[in-house]
Amino acid sequence: MKNILITGGAGFIGSNFIHRLIKEKPEVKLVNLDALTYAGNLDNLKSLEGNDHYTFIKGDIGNQALVESLLLKHEIDTIVNFAAETHVDRSILGPIQFLNTNVVGTGCLLEAARKTWRGRGSDSVRFHHISTDEVFGSLAPNDPPFSESSQYSPNSPYSASKAASDHLVRAYYHTYGLPITISNCTNNYGPYQFPEKLIPLMIMNCLKGKPLPVYGDGRQIRDWLYVEDHCEAIQLILEKGRVGETYLIGGENQPTNLEIIHQITAILDEIVPNSPFRPHANLIQYVQDRPGHDRRYAMDISKIRGEFGWSPTYTLQRGLRATIEWYLSHQDWIKALVEKEEFGSWMKNNYANRGDAK
Ligand code: NAD
Ligand code: DAU
Repeated sequence: MKNILITGGAGFIGSNFIHRLIKEKPEVKLVNLDALTYAGNLDNLKSLEGNDHYTFIKGDIGNQALVESLLLKHEIDTIVNFAAETHVDRSILGPIQFLNTNVVGTGCLLEAARKTWRGRGSDSVRFHHISTDEVFGSLAPNDPPFSESSQYSPNSPYSASKAASDHLVRAYYHTYGLPITISNCTNNYGPYQFPEKLIPLMIMNCLKGKPLPVYGDGRQIRDWLYVEDHCEAIQLILEKGRVGETYLIGGENQPTNLEIIHQITAILDEIVPNSPFRPHANLIQYVQDRPGHDRRYAMDISKIRGEFGWSPTYTLQRGLRATIEWYLSHQDWIKALVEKEEFGSWMKNNYANRGDAK
C-alpha cells in the first residue's frame, strides 16, 4: 500500500478516511477522485491543501479512460471505492442516478483496474469496495443479526444498486482474479456528514428551532457506528484482510430512531442552556413514512473481531456528544452547505408533501 486511489474522498466517510491515513501512514501517497456532486465538499479537506502526499482530481468513476490514466500516472496499487450516491430518500425520488454511479460507475472502475493491473497478484494490488448493511434487507425484532453469509435482499433503489455493485466486485474476483475485498457497514455518524442524513439533520434543525421530522412511528432500528471506528476497520482490512473476503462492520447497538433523537435533544438541552428552543424534544414532528422503509438492521461482527481484534471504541453516547460538539463548532461549514439552492430544493422535495402524520 504505497499509492492509494480513494474515490468519493470529498464525501463524509471518504474525507474522514483520508484524514486518518494522512495521520497514520504519512509515507503513503493519496489520490482523491471525486465528481463533487452535491455531497462532495472540498471544505472537508481544506487542511490538506499544499500537502505533497495528497492530490485531488475532479472526475467521475464512470470515466474509465480517466481512471486508467490515473492508475498509470500515479502508479496506484490500492483502490478504495467510497464513491456512490448514498441517500435512500433521494434514491426513491430519482433512482437512475443511483444505477449510473453505483452500478455502472463501479463497473468502470473495476474494468480500469482489471486492464491496468493485468497479471498483478494479491501481493501487489488491492481493490477494496465500501458497502452497506442495507444490501441484506430488513430484520424482524427477534431475528439474529446479519452475517457474512446472509442472503442479499435489498428493498430500496439505493440498496439494490449497492447490492449490484457488491456482486460485480465479487464477480471480478471469481472471473478475472482481481484481488478484491468488500466491507459492509452499518449507519455511520460523526464530523463532515452531509446534513440530509438523520443525525446532522436533527442537530441542525434543533439549533434553528425547526421541526424534527420522524418518519412513521420512529421505532425503526439502526446500528450506529462512529465514523472514526469505521475508518480504522477499513485500514485493518486493507492491511490484513484476506483477498476475496467480505467483512461486516458495525457498532453493536440497537437504538430506535426516536431514542437517537431523544439523546440528541437531551445533549443539546444540556450543552446549549441558553437555547430559546429548549426543551428541544418539543420540536419532534411525526411525518409520513419512507416507502419500503427497512425496520431493523443489526450486524454480527465476530469475523472482523476474530481476525483482527477490531471492535468499536466509541459508545453511542460518547460518539453523539463528540458529533454534536463538532457541529456546534463548525456552524460555518453547515451554513455554506444549507444556503445552496440545491439543498433548499431537496428539503422542499423530500419534506413538503409529507405533512404531519398525527
Ligand atoms: P457521501 O454521500 O457523503 O459522499 C459520496 C461522495 O462520492 C461525494 O463526495 C460525491 O461527490 C462522490 N461521488 C458521487 N458520485 C460520484 C462519481 N460518479 N464519481 C466520483 N465521485 C462521486 O457518502 P458517505 O456517507 O461518505 O458514503 C461513502 C460510501 O460508504 C458509500 O459507498 C456508501 O454506500 C457507503 N456507506 C455509507 C454509510 C453511511 O452511513 N454513510 C454506511 C455504510 C456504507
Ligand atoms: O445502514 C447504512 C446506511 O445508512 C448507508 O448505506 C446509507 O448510505 C446511509 O444514508 C444510511 O441510510 P439510512 O437510510 O439508514 O440513513 P438516514 O440518515 O437517511 O436515516 C436513518 C433513519 O432515520 C432511517 O430509519 C430513516 C429515519 N429518518 C431519516 C431522515 C432523513 C427519519 O425518521 N427522518 C428523516 O428526516
